[in-house]
Amino acid sequence: MLVRAAALVVAVLAASAAHPANDARIHLPDGPGVGLVYAHCRTCHDLQYVRDAKGLLPAQWKAVLASMRDNGLRISDEDEARVLDYLATYLGPHPPAEAAASAQPVAADGRQVYADNCAACHGPEGRGQPGSFPPLAGNPDLARDPLFPVQVVLHGLAGRIEIDGKAYDGAMPPFDHLSNGEVAAVVNFLHGSLGKTQPVSSLSAQDVAATRARAMSPQDVHAVRAAMH
Ligand code: HEC
Ligand code: HEC
Repeated sequence: MLVRAAALVVAVLAASAAHPANDARIHLPDGPGVGLVYAHCRTCHDLQYVRDAKGLLPAQWKAVLASMRDNGLRISDEDEARVLDYLATYLGPHPPAEAAASAQPVAADGRQVYADNCAACHGPEGRGQPGSFPPLAGNPDLARDPLFPVQVVLHGLAGRIEIDGKAYDGAMPPFDHLSNGEVAAVVNFLHGSLGKTQPVSSLSAQDVAATRARAMSPQDVHAVRAAMH
């Protein structure tokens, strides 16, 4: 199934390259569980389908998730319950006003950002999935330039890469819905607790803001990666 999902990612990416209007950066309302939607629901298609389905009743969202499982969605029961809560609340018939939902920003916890946004593909321990998703724990690319993982998270990555002699040829969509603080926290977590690739560095939200301001495609990030090697 994972192999099939990876093949679909490639197919979808090829399709979006052919149709630049195809929006890889559709943003959803903020709310608990939104990270899981970004992580799980863009492996086969972009979020247009999800946004267009706004207003469905909880039972209808439940049916959509069941049919996505039939399509090949791999998700734990616990994560599915959180996704369903999110969809039924924020894309349900009576969504809360967005301002109220995001009124209280909390300091980002890198471990939690990772669990919600990254673990679905890179694995809870960052070991990856051979042939589909590269490992992040102990990955030397992360230490080559502390800003490289920031670029990957904000702008995506597409093109063939090799890590420890193993090849990957998929695509990671941009995760630019994450705040600067969340991106800094998750990358610091990769460098520190998860990867131990270097002493815990402390990227700041300002470092992330500067990287966000650069217009880059996933292919541009691939070129940066190639230049680091
Ligand atoms: C393994 C691949 C895969 C994943 C992962 C996936 N989908 Fe889909 N999705 C599909 C396919 C295939 C279609 C149908 C496309 C078509 O008919 O053109 C679809 C269509 C949809 C539609 C349109 C209405 C419908 O039922 O056909 C919605 C809404 C949707 N997906 C929501 C989601 C949500 C929410 C997630 C994340 C929890 C998700 N999808 C994850 C494969 C997937
Ligand atoms: C939908 C699956 C998916 C999710 C979710 C995901 N990634 Fe990725 N990631 C990939 C794929 C696929 C690649 C390899 C792309 C390629 O082959 O060019 C990748 C590559 C990377 C790389 C580059 C590794 C290297 O050695 O060059 C980093 C860093 C990374 N991801 C970090 C993250 C972080 C941090 C998150 C969460 C914010 C995340 N990824 C979420 C699929 C994903």
